[in-house]
Amino acid sequence: MGICFSIEDQKHHSISDSSSKPRPQGYESASSTTPLSSMNIKDLRQSAGYCNVDIFTYEELRLATKYFRPDLILGEGGFGVVYKGVIDDSVRPGFKPTQVAIKELNREGFQGDREWLAEVNYLGQFSHPNLVKLIGYCCEDEHRLLVYEYMASGSLEKHLFRRVGSTLTWSKRMKIALHAARGLAFLHGAERPIIYRDFKTSNILLDADFNAKLSDFGLAKDGPMGDQTHVSTRVMGTYGYAAPEYVMTGHLTARSDVYGFGVVLLELLIGRRALDKSRPSREHNLVEWARPLLNHNKKLLKILDPKIEGQYSSKTAIKVANLAYQCLSQNPKGRPLMSQVVEILENFQSSGENEEEQMIQNGSSSLTIYEVPKGGNGNSLEGRNQSRNELRRNERRIEKSKSQPSNRNLSGSSDVMLVDKVSS
Ligand SMILES: Nc1ncnc2c1ncn2[C@@H]1O[C@H](COP(=O)(O)OP(=O)(O)OP(=O)(O)O)[C@@H](O)[C@H]1O
Ligand SMILES: [Mg+2]
Repeated sequence: MGICFSIEDQKHHSISDSSSKPRPQGYESASSTTPLSSMNIKDLRQSAGYCNVDIFTYEELRLATKYFRPDLILGEGGFGVVYKGVIDDSVRPGFKPTQVAIKELNREGFQGDREWLAEVNYLGQFSHPNLVKLIGYCCEDEHRLLVYEYMASGSLEKHLFRRVGSTLTWSKRMKIALHAARGLAFLHGAERPIIYRDFKTSNILLDADFNAKLSDFGLAKDGPMGDQTHVSTRVMGTYGYAAPEYVMTGHLTARSDVYGFGVVLLELLIGRRALDKSRPSREHNLVEWARPLLNHNKKLLKILDPKIEGQYSSKTAIKVANLAYQCLSQNPKGRPLMSQVVEILENFQSSGENEEEQMIQNGSSSLTIYEVPKGGNGNSLEGRNQSRNELRRNERRIEKSKSQPSNRNLSGSSDVMLVDKVSS
């Protein structure tokens, strides 16, 4: 049997956090005292290595996707095309029929095997309700494929921005935010935290009941250990979501993910993309435009997504906006931990349910506007160094050389490689 780690296993491991407070589901640490193992292609060819992860042949995956039939394409990202498939007895004798999503990695991809290995090594070892399950993989000859559990409702990005006539209700949005926060908190809770690095709406997948799970661990990275304050990396991620200090210095911490979470929370609240060039230029970058309005209650209520009007109380919306404001702090230390974010969202959810009931009983959705204290985030850097050009390229991946950290803004920086999603 291979290496496997799940939240169930936590019961048998010591957790580094000594707090005796019972933790909510999905809040557990990703590992106990031993760092996660990492296998290379040779190891993974010989044995699946991780329990509950199967090795498939290329032919089996061809059968599962009806020879990669174009009408089974679910989407295409920076690293390859994703197909819907079924693995059953006709693909592998004895296999219980299972709907899957199969990602075939682009072999021309400049990253080679790195992303594929990161996905297998991280997802292969995790089992958590808010992380997409890796069912198996294929690494035959030049082929690199990943087989995931099928997420019937697709990505958050599709529901929030692309699907005509689809409206995600306020309560679904809050549930998705909570689930995604639990996924990140799980990763950050390891003794050696894992930094996800690519938090965005297209990487948050939804099952038939709109439970959210994080997918795409290709950019995930082991976080700092012991006395280390950060890990130095090449800057990678997606414009609009990457934390400004990470883009500028290449210094990666779990707080970079918290910033990405803040961007998604803002997208959920306002119903606009992180970067949207179809809007007037001062509104291209959602964070630059909206963050200053988040703790001005009247202004905030005017910019909330009109599609969800009447579904929330002003009081709760203001609190959620305040959480987003803190996650988006320019000063990484001014951002909350993901475990704190989970706690806050859980409280909103239980109080929000009561409010919803009250609103239904009263037949009214308008509530008094409550004042949120301003400037209480202890962030002296706020807004000072933010460059308009820093985070402006829509849906493009970032890659910057590790050896050349730069304090210059992105658009003027020669050491930044921009890679289009489809061509990378
Ligand atoms: N497990 C899954 N179940 C259902 N649909 C999926 C699954 N995995 C991916 N998809 C679909 O395939 C699309 C493409 O996914 P992929 O991760 O390759 O690209 P992306 O997230 O759009 O971009 P990026 O490469 O920047 O992450 C997703 O947006 C989603 O709609
Ligand atoms: Mg993705």
